[in-house]
Amino acid sequence: MKIKSAEIVISAVKREQYPEDEKPEIAFAGRSNVGKSSLINLLVNRKKLARTSSSPGKTQTINFYDINDQFRIVDLPGYGYAKVSKSSKEAWGKMMDAYLSNRKNLIDVFQLVDIRHAPTQQDKHMYSWIKHFGFNGIVIVTKLDKIKRGQRQKHLDIIKKELQMTSDDILLPVSAESREGKEEAWEIINEVFKVNGFDFEAEEAIK
Ligand code: GTP
Ligand code: MG
Repeated sequence: MKIKSAEIVISAVKREQYPEDEKPEIAFAGRSNVGKSSLINLLVNRKKLARTSSSPGKTQTINFYDINDQFRIVDLPGYGYAKVSKSSKEAWGKMMDAYLSNRKNLIDVFQLVDIRHAPTQQDKHMYSWIKHFGFNGIVIVTKLDKIKRGQRQKHLDIIKKELQMTSDDILLPVSAESREGKEEAWEIINEVFKVNGFDFEAEEAIK
């Protein structure tokens, strides 16, 4: 994907703030600190488009990023942050539900998990929810650079098993640090657009 423009449209907390147009959206879900915002920056070659932080819980809104004026990547607020109050947990649930349950623009939700850790109970819930609603169940495994090459497959196998992924389910390891997996991630995203009737790559080729 050739990135001509990437910009934040809005950080939304409620439905009325979501962009109103026909552009398709792909959303990234995952635990706080898993690397959702970093993955967005990697994909669009920008260091600071999506705000990242080493302290979990940075993204607490639904952040819509417009890419090439064609589609959006949506950075969902992370879950599983230990120090969150009960009321913020409820707010998180309502916000996620409002977006995920009824968003026509949304064509897929990718689940992100950290290669270093076995999926948590909440990861499993999120993943089964994603599948239940008929999304593809594509998993992006982040922070590949944190595990030595020889050890990686073992970690990937644990993730596949714990999330009960089938052999058809796509799992892609990436690193925002070493930039591994970036091209493959775009290939997957392009394919998702294509099967949903949006061929942005072909439009590029025509121009
Ligand atoms: P929330 O906004 O809290 O939900 O977190 P997030 O999922 O957006 O995570 P974020 O992108 O802010 O990254 C969290 C921390 O992990 C930051 O310190 C990043 O620099 C680091 N990080 C993200 N991706 C990678 C990676 O691929 N490799 C390494 N080594 N660090 C990474
Ligand atoms: Mg974030």
